[in-house]
Amino acid sequence: MSTPAIAGGVAVRQTFLPIALPHVGPEEKAEVLAALESGWLSTGPRVFEFERRMREYVGAKHAVALNSCTAGLHLSLVAAGIGPGDEVITTPLTFTATANVVLHVGASVVFADVDPHTGNLDPVAVERVITPRTKAIIPVHYAGYPCDMDAFDALASPRDILLVEDAAHAIGSRVNGTPVGSAAHRVAVFSFYATKTLTTGEGGMLVTGRDELAERVRILSLHGISKDAWKRHSAAGSWYYEVLAPGFKDNMGELAAALGLAQLAKLERFIARREAIVQAYNAAFCHQEALILPAEHPSVRHSRYIYPLRLREGTLKLSRNEFIDALRAENIGTSVYFIPVHLHPYYRSTFGYAEGAYPHAEQFSAHSVALPLFPDMTDRDVQDVIDAVLRLVGYYRR
Ligand SMILES: Cc1ncc(COP(=O)(O)O)c(C=O)c1O
Repeated sequence: MSTPAIAGGVAVRQTFLPIALPHVGPEEKAEVLAALESGWLSTGPRVFEFERRMREYVGAKHAVALNSCTAGLHLSLVAAGIGPGDEVITTPLTFTATANVVLHVGASVVFADVDPHTGNLDPVAVERVITPRTKAIIPVHYAGYPCDMDAFDALASPRDILLVEDAAHAIGSRVNGTPVGSAAHRVAVFSFYATKTLTTGEGGMLVTGRDELAERVRILSLHGISKDAWKRHSAAGSWYYEVLAPGFKDNMGELAAALGLAQLAKLERFIARREAIVQAYNAAFCHQEALILPAEHPSVRHSRYIYPLRLREGTLKLSRNEFIDALRAENIGTSVYFIPVHLHPYYRSTFGYAEGAYPHAEQFSAHSVALPLFPDMTDRDVQDVIDAVLRLVGYYRR
């Protein structure tokens, strides 16, 4: 067994491998250049074409392109009229944006614990915290593995609770062939942040079958200005506009949409490459007692946004944080998805949360480490990650 770099051995690789890198090929460059040369840089024809193709890809009636997933989550709540006095249930095992947006509209965030296997919001835990004030539930498809939306429908529909799927990780995920985001009665929001399975640099897309909600989100995303506000500087548009609500500035621009169009055309290839990398990791790690592999199910086609490996408690002589440091010494980048939201200083000091409040989420977070996963990884990169992980597991096994 070879000595880990952190213990004085030679690193598995000489150059640093980041956890994620965006793919930017000639098609992305050509699309963005064409947008730059078109004379129209804000919301325009490329944004609408991107929305059209996204509607087609997801199988959704409406798609509204935005400058982030956070904006889409926020606008969903605003458009649904959720505000002070209302409660919104979500998971603590998420990025802070999911919970922050609830506070932005003046409502109360109510957390419920996750399924210890998938890391997804647990419908049974959610049912326990539903009250007459519950107006929305925001499940997060953790890592791209879809939540049990049938169970959430069963809770939400009879109580007229809005389901907003935080699909930040889940573009391309499917259950029994049905894409995440295609359910007409719900709202789903994708993220196109730089590291995501599909990126526009920064960006997001809200999809839904709800006509009124989609229309409100569109208006709210551009200052609350009446229809076709984006056209007001074009020959086809008019200088006249009316403000229907005090809206926000959350629209997507042409450069982002150009990048998105090129990426969407490659999305199935990206997911196939991510899947191949995951299968290589799984095959290398599945016999290791110390390692718990990410959730799988035959009905699930996974976007493979991240690979959250978990260290089985009591099997290694080093902590999760030391494991991360040791991988860093091997020149392998990692990250943790996520520090549970309720344990961040703001949430602790404002709402009095402490450790132990959501034990499954805390356990999941405390033992997990996400490994590099992006489509341009070479087979050599993948093997380096495998070698580094197996080296640490072998050397530090109890
Ligand atoms: C689960 C989750 N929700 C929401 C977001 C926010 O996405 P965006 O950066 O596009 O606003 C992220 C960001 O990575 C996320 O991981």
